[in-house]
Amino acid sequence: MTTPAFCLKDNVALVTGASRGIGRGIAKALAEAGTDVAGVSRSASTETQALVEAAGRRYLGLQNDLATASVADLNALVDRTAAHFGRIDILVNNAGITCRSPALELTEEDWNTVMQVNLHAVFFLCQAAGRYFVPQGRGKVINIASLMSYQGGVHIAPYVASKHGVAGITRALATDWAPHGVNVNAIAPGYIDTDMTEALQQNPVRAPEIRLRTPAGRWGTAEEIGKLAVYLASEESAFMHGSIVPIDGGWLAR
Ligand code: NAI
Repeated sequence: MTTPAFCLKDNVALVTGASRGIGRGIAKALAEAGTDVAGVSRSASTETQALVEAAGRRYLGLQNDLATASVADLNALVDRTAAHFGRIDILVNNAGITCRSPALELTEEDWNTVMQVNLHAVFFLCQAAGRYFVPQGRGKVINIASLMSYQGGVHIAPYVASKHGVAGITRALATDWAPHGVNVNAIAPGYIDTDMTEALQQNPVRAPEIRLRTPAGRWGTAEEIGKLAVYLASEESAFMHGSIVPIDGGWLAR
């Protein structure tokens, strides 16, 4: 019998924003590759749990609002995962929010909320996981960046700033932790069919513009992001450190 490609057998992953969209796609793909999953979400993640268990793996639901989580709360998410499964190997910082507003009308509260979820939680979850990964000499951090880690977008300044920051955190921690055998990388999805982009997909002007601007001529799927996450979580990507990997139907190439 041959070993399946990118086998992650008996690894344990913590995935934020696991209840739907890209996070659910990543949790499912990791489980199918052999990983037990702890999923962080604000509400119950029943569907994700069912998908992970259907793949024959264990699921731990961790309810938490990352918009208000303290550093102690974030440490506790990582510690509870490690205590429940007896180990932690993979952290996927997927949860993210956006706020659409012309810059002149943006409030401080909206700015802070986006920064809290998209940057503060990302960095301090990395730090908490790094306390396991660095001493054990192995571990995988996968942050979810965006095309907005490269571009300016339209009326989404805090999202753009935060996703540039996610790229920065990824590069900074990769540099710090590569000597310790820990891989820190990011995925930069293009336009993906999820709840976050529902309004854009329904927009009669922007939706066709986006499809035409994308060389592949379509939106991507959460399943496609999940497959890339499995590669970045596997030993096959051992020499990748600090890469921000676009998966965008050719958007950035154009
Ligand atoms: P989504 O809105 O469908 O899902 C976001 C996930 O994050 C949900 O599970 C939600 O519960 C969780 N989340 C949001 N705020 C939270 C909070 N305060 N506490 C705990 N969990 C919270 O979004 P989607 O599209 O699945 O996005 C996932 C990631 O991918 C985000 O970081 C997003 O910025 C990024 N991304 C998405 C793209 C797209 O086209 N959909 C493109 C590029 C990046």
